[in-house]
Amino acid sequence: MAEAVQIAVVGSGYVGLVAAVCFAEMGHSVICVDNDESKVAALQGGDTLIHENHLPELLERYRNTRVRFMTDLGEATRTCQAIFVAVGTPQSETGDADLSYVEAVASEIARSINGYKVIIEKSTVPVYTNEWIRRVIERNGVPRDAFDIVSNPEFLREGTAVEDFLHPDRIVVGADSERASELLSEIYLPLTQGEYYRRPNAIPGGCSPENLPILLQTSTKSAEIIKHASNAFLALKISFINAVSNLCEAADANVEQVARGMGLDSRIGPKFLRPGIGYGGSCFPKDIAAFRSVAEQMGVDFNLLSEVEKINSNQKKRFLSKVRSALWTLRGKRLAVLGLAFKGDTDDIRESPAIDLVEMFLAEGCTVVAYDPAAMGRAESKIPRSSQMQYASGVDEAAADADALLILTDWQEFASLDLVQLHSLMRYPIIVDGRNLYDPQHMIENGFTYLSIGRPSATPLREAARLAV
Ligand code: UGA
Repeated sequence: MAEAVQIAVVGSGYVGLVAAVCFAEMGHSVICVDNDESKVAALQGGDTLIHENHLPELLERYRNTRVRFMTDLGEATRTCQAIFVAVGTPQSETGDADLSYVEAVASEIARSINGYKVIIEKSTVPVYTNEWIRRVIERNGVPRDAFDIVSNPEFLREGTAVEDFLHPDRIVVGADSERASELLSEIYLPLTQGEYYRRPNAIPGGCSPENLPILLQTSTKSAEIIKHASNAFLALKISFINAVSNLCEAADANVEQVARGMGLDSRIGPKFLRPGIGYGGSCFPKDIAAFRSVAEQMGVDFNLLSEVEKINSNQKKRFLSKVRSALWTLRGKRLAVLGLAFKGDTDDIRESPAIDLVEMFLAEGCTVVAYDPAAMGRAESKIPRSSQMQYASGVDEAAADADALLILTDWQEFASLDLVQLHSLMRYPIIVDGRNLYDPQHMIENGFTYLSIGRPSATPLREAARLAV
């Protein structure tokens, strides 16, 4: 059995909270620090704060025992040997990552260092951040041999973050000192040696005693770049298939067939080739902008990233045009919107293309009646209820009397709608699907005009004409 390590996690957002409970699940003793007193009190009281699979059960298991929540970073620093920094790195006006929270945490840690500590960047940060943290700590009078900085980036997806943490494709540890690297190896031992996967109550996932995750050791700077480059590459894949979907529309081809044909090549792989209304979320848009900005500052031509962003933003405008092409004019039309979250299985609406589209439709003078299984509360605080913006308690209420129904988020629930019921409720049976959840032929058979991404549009009339020939 691996030794338990005393770990502090600074920040109780998505990454921090998930990391804290997962380290506890791996057998470590964790202090999760946040300077927001109300958040700490809520977590101490059993509120999970975010919608994340397995998080409630793990919090219930370890709350106030193996995971303690507090606001005192000084105490956490003094108590723990490994300090993971998982605070926000929001986008600044220039696109750069705003590292002021990271800097503030580094100074505070420096003031409480009472022995050798390893400070680990878990937040997504630009290359060279480790050097800045080091300088900040040294400026506060801490001797160079009293600490090390490590980059241990996270590759968690919202919705499956706990599983991604405990069953990773890889664990990247960027360290420039043997001592720090050894501590990180020790922390991840329950995963890399498989002890965790042999437990009867382990959270299930892709790893097993026969299929252990790899711990990749790199330099600190390489690890920082691995994180940004991975997110940028995934965003590139999405923009690529979205551009291909536009070509398919122009050529009357089917992007789903094209994506499948491409994805069967093991060098390309099938994942992240789903066309849609563009990527969103708290990571991709911010990280691509930050990576572009880092390249610019270092004099490296990486215009490819600007193209990725441009395609992504155009994808929303194309969707709006598609709806217009189905309805002729938009002013005064009643639109049922299914989905507000940036993707299915989350209540997160940050940089959600669905929210952007709702705002665009409202600006065009449409009335929107929206439904989302989890994100309505957050959406309502961004777009308040009004005569033009309504929130429905379910699909049927949203669809009643709608001129068209738009699918904007890939929730499983939206892939199995009762089409007969829907047809009877809507004013016109028109569906514009931004996530390709349905087979066009099936929609025609159910009497719908169905427009999707990168596939020939389908209308019952057009089908009737085709059959008559
Ligand atoms: C993403 C990465 O997938 C994680 O590996 C990374 O750790 C995380 O960012 C982060 O940096 O913290 P996440 O933002 O949760 O995770 O969401 P994804 O599942 O990657 O989806 C991002 C966006 O791309 C969503 O809007 C989704 O709908 C869209 N997407 C995804 C597509 O349009 N097509 C696809 O084929 C895949």
